[in-house]
This record gives sequence, C-alpha cells and structure tokens, in this order.
Amino acid sequence: MTQAVATSPKDKLIIFDTTLRDGEQSPGVTLTASEKVEIAKQLSRLGVDVCEAGFPIASEGDFEAVERIAKEVGHLMSGRKGGKPMVICGLARAVPADIQRAYDAIKHAPLHRVHTFLATSDIHLQYKLKITRDECVARAVAAVKFAKSIGCKDIEFSPEDAGRSDREFLCQVLGAVIKAGATTLNIPDTVGYNTPEEYGAMIKFLVENVESAKSVTWSTHCHNDLGLATANTLAGVANGARQVEVTINGIGERAGNTSLEELVMAIFTHPTAYPVYHTIDTYQIYHTSQLVTKKTGMVIQANKAIVGANAFAHESGIHQDGVLKHKQTYEIIEPAVVGIPSNSLVLGKHSGRNAFRTRVEEITQNSIYDDILKTDATIFEKLFLAFKKLADTKKSGVTDQDMFALL
Ligand code: KIV
Ligand code: ZN
Repeated sequence: MTQAVATSPKDKLIIFDTTLRDGEQSPGVTLTASEKVEIAKQLSRLGVDVCEAGFPIASEGDFEAVERIAKEVGHLMSGRKGGKPMVICGLARAVPADIQRAYDAIKHAPLHRVHTFLATSDIHLQYKLKITRDECVARAVAAVKFAKSIGCKDIEFSPEDAGRSDREFLCQVLGAVIKAGATTLNIPDTVGYNTPEEYGAMIKFLVENVESAKSVTWSTHCHNDLGLATANTLAGVANGARQVEVTINGIGERAGNTSLEELVMAIFTHPTAYPVYHTIDTYQIYHTSQLVTKKTGMVIQANKAIVGANAFAHESGIHQDGVLKHKQTYEIIEPAVVGIPSNSLVLGKHSGRNAFRTRVEEITQNSIYDDILKTDATIFEKLFLAFKKLADTKKSGVTDQDMFALL
C-alpha cells in the first residue's frame, strides 16, 4: 500500500462527482434533464462537494440540464447532517464560446465553477490540436483569464492527457494558469495509462515544482483502462491531491472513471493511511448506486466492489461458516455502512404488513425515505399494495433491489 505523505492533522478531501458529465459520456448513456436533476439531488444528499453537471456547449439539452441543476439543486444544503450547498460545475474547452456557455448555465447556483481543459501531451498537440507548446500555454492562459473576466471566481483547469505529458512542460502550463487565476488544478490520466507509482510521483512532482503550487487545490482524475483508477487516485491523495474526481459505479468514457464508492470505502477502511477526511454519508452509497443504475441503464457487474450484487455474498461453505461465527472473518465492511441491509427475511406474496414494515424500516434507516415514510402514512399503504402486486409475479421472492425500485 502507498504510504501517505505526512502533512498537518487532516485535510478536507473535496469529493468532485462527474457522474453527470464524464459518467454520461459512457457509451450508450443519455440522461434527460429531469433525470439529471434527480441524480444531482441524491448526490447532494450523499454529501458530494462539487457536482460536474455537464458540458453546456455540447447540446441545448445539456445546457438546460446544467442550468436546472444550478437553479434547483444548487441552493439545497448538502448531506443529511447539514453542510454547505454543492458547487455546481460546467465543463468547457479552452475557448471563449464554451466558457461563456458554461458560465451562463452555472451562474444561478450560489457556488459555481467553470472547469476548462486543454490537452498538453505532444501526441494531442501534434495530431489533434495541431498547435505548438507555446500556443498551448497561450491558449490555456487566455481561457482562464477569460473565465475570470466574465465574473467566475472558482476556475478549474485540466491539462488533458497529463498522464502522458512531459512533466517540465506541465510545470510551465500549470504555473502560467495559476498566475492567470486558476484555483483548482486537475491532473487527468485521460487514457488510464498510468500505474499508481507513476501517477503518485507525478502529483508529488507537480506539487513540489509548479510555481505557487501551494495557492491552489490539486485534483486527481483517473480513468480505468487498466483497472487502476481507484489505486491511482489513492496514490494521488497520498502525494498531496486534495480533490478527487469520481463517478458513481465508476461509469465513464470507455472503462470508466474512479468509482466514488471504492475510493470512499478504501479511505474508510484505512483511516490512518491517508491524512484526509470527507463528508460523504456512506449510508447513502447503495441507494445512489441503484438510482444511477436505473437512470443510466448501465447494469453493474455482480462482482463490482462495494455495490455489486455479490459484494457481500458468501458462497463457499468455509466462508459461510466463518461469517456465521464472526462476520469479520470474511467481511471487511459491514454492508449496512454503505446502506445495504442485512437480508434476514425472505419477502414474498405470503408476507404480511409486519414483515414488510420491518424490512422497509431496515433498508430505509439513515436514508431520506426514513423521514418521508414517517411523515406520510398513506405512502406506506401504497408501497405495501405495490409490493403485493410485485410479489405475485416473482418466483424467487422480493429482493432488496426490488424494494428499492418500489421505493
Ligand atoms: O479525462 C479527461 O481528460 C477529462 C477532462 C475533460 C478533464 O475528462
Ligand atoms: Zn475524464
């Protein structure tokens, strides 16, 4: 395991969720504005700090979705235990038209951020952008200055394909954008090429060598092409990053992005390994995962860490025996901590109100449903009738997944 660089007691780790932007770039996924608003509200309950709501210049629909999130979700208090509203963020290429469009969509939220990006690797400069390194620096600086000139104070800059960029050149670009007004520097391993050692070393090098590095927040953005996104993100945190860019269920371009639930639970299970704390309500993880699965249509594999159907299932006799004797023999996390109820009752068409109520209470405790069900008795009755209807059609009993779908 990567050892954390010892710093002051514990720094806040900013959780930047990009489910609605990079996550929506998953092949075959398109969300309506209303679906995006619903997911954004749940991200706020989960305790996310920054919600990258979309790429406003990409389409009218995306502009509308980002603007609605800024207006309808940006004012809500984040997390069950209070906290401040989420920062609503819009993505923009490093050109004025994109930046203006992103700013027009996000400006309605009390806390808002423009995230602008420009590739810095030679392969992107030569073949995609067809510009020199000097032109790249000038364009990056102009983009940040433009964002500042239209009134944006919270500006994030990403050197796209940083993972394959020349480090000295990265220092030059990043030093220049800090001077121009960038407040967060995000380091994307755009193609998921880095190993944890490489990625951690790159963050350390940049934090130590970029001019005025201490005046900004450093951020990770890792893709999962080699299955290393979570490990790389942890290596980034161990080496000085204090923002992580993640998605629910790890969805995103190609093999996806770092998964929020994996990152958060890795820190949860290793409380002394990383000098950071965060404000994610882990009890909301499973429900958020289910909501994103339902809205995107992207079914997660059964063996997906933390939220997969088999993540807490024990098949072999030896394991079952061990877990019955003491749960921690084969369980490193209590399922309830991520909002997965322990499945002691099998619900079916013969189940009565009492068994049903017990199960509902078990699976909704510490969630938003808790309050809703307590304040309106008619909702429970409606739920019970819907459950009976469903139970009639199911041979193998009503699962917790079914119960969440009903809810
Ligand atoms: O992977 C990437 O480089 C990105 C940038 C737009 C930050 O998603
Ligand atoms: Zn990305």
